[in-house]
Amino acid sequence: MIEYRTLRVALLGAGSVGSQVAAQLLGRADELASRAGAGIELAGIAVRDVDAPRDADLPRELFTADPEELILSSDIVVELIGGIEPARTLILKALGSGADVVTANKALLAAHGPELFAAAEQVGAQLHYEAAVAGAIPIIRPLRDSLAGDRVQRILGIVNGTTNYILDEMHTKGLGLEEALAVATDLGYAEADPTADIEGHDAAAKAAILAGLAFHTTVPLESVHCEGITGVTAAQIESAKQAGYVVKLLAICEQLESGVSARVHPALVPASHPLASVHGANNAVFVQAEAAGDLMFYGAGAGGIQTASAVLGDIVSVARRHVAGGPGVAESTASAVGIAPFGSIQTRYQISLEVDDRPGVLAAVAGVFSEQGVSVETVLQSSAASAATLVIVTHLAPESALAGTVEALRSNDVVRDVASVLRVEGL
Ligand code: NDP
Ligand code: HSE
Repeated sequence: MIEYRTLRVALLGAGSVGSQVAAQLLGRADELASRAGAGIELAGIAVRDVDAPRDADLPRELFTADPEELILSSDIVVELIGGIEPARTLILKALGSGADVVTANKALLAAHGPELFAAAEQVGAQLHYEAAVAGAIPIIRPLRDSLAGDRVQRILGIVNGTTNYILDEMHTKGLGLEEALAVATDLGYAEADPTADIEGHDAAAKAAILAGLAFHTTVPLESVHCEGITGVTAAQIESAKQAGYVVKLLAICEQLESGVSARVHPALVPASHPLASVHGANNAVFVQAEAAGDLMFYGAGAGGIQTASAVLGDIVSVARRHVAGGPGVAESTASAVGIAPFGSIQTRYQISLEVDDRPGVLAAVAGVFSEQGVSVETVLQSSAASAATLVIVTHLAPESALAGTVEALRSNDVVRDVASVLRVEGL
């Protein structure tokens, strides 16, 4: 029988993810100890309401409403509360006391990452966050470690499970956004405040984290262009389907000549593209690297037990470092490259217009594109009574030129309505 040193784990939060982490730590203690080379003892669970019902059967005596006392007597602190405060203060307290920290809190890392990583570095502690992006999918460690010797050029991904679930339900079953969101919330996918999901803020936080890691810099959350799915209509989903596309909320991080860019917005993806087949709350992240070429990471992007897998991996990893000794590895932000202006990003638009059905209209519309320097790839026309619908897909063009084109179309006499504007990715 091997005698292990025992590490005390403080768990902060026992919601969708925390309750599953607690159940696994209690139910698989021997197995995890043999992997970590140290006993991992769940010392206590700090929550708001110690008497609230939990998703897992957990001993009542482990619960406390006093996180600070628990933190100060622990070697590893696992933060699964979410949001900015009190999570930030509690993590700083944990790091200050020399404890290693594991968190799934992308909102906090995107907003206060530099402060937290500096606090960890100061005491040689580790701050691990595999669960913060794309739930169960290992993506942080591959970017931070496996690809540390390569040059990442682009990341294209679906990184929010709730919105992918909603868009998939809208696409495959014709459900409305609110109806699908209610199910996603019941299933434990959504944030405590689900507007973070549907307005794109959760995906934007993840994009900031991914871009920072991939390009070895700090990407401020405010620099991430963010559009959610609340403007996506049933009509857009239906016409996307007819045209052979699927609407997905994408996070795109790029290293451009003008700097680093991270953006989140709904986009049309060809039905034949692998991202179009990402269903339910699954996520997928494509990474393009100079030497490695194209890599794809796919799996559960949300859910309590699935996310617990990533959290447990981090706990075992930090426990190993405790056993081996030595300081944790600091974040690499050495490139300090700037942020690219949003207008310089190259993208494609699909623009649906209601126009007069009379001679000269097509030429007038084409003239607007030409004046803005935007090249048209395809035009589809359908007519009804005196009106026609034009569905135009552009070639790649700078975002500023495309936005200028849409503005000019809106004020053009032959255009009755700019019915839909969506970016197109994955062509
Ligand atoms: P939940 O809202 O389900 O749970 C939050 C937990 O934190 C609850 O147990 C709550 O206590 C506790 N809590 C809230 N405020 C305080 C406080 N002031 N002091 C002490 N405890 C507090 O969140 P999730 O489990 O869904 O998410 C946790 C984290 O994991 C978040 O950062 C989230 O973004 C992230 N994440 C979530 C995923 C998911 O699929 N759900 C996937 C990947 C990451 P009480 O129960 O008593 O109210
Ligand atoms: N609310 C998040 C999502 C949880 O739906 O993706 C996982 O980060």
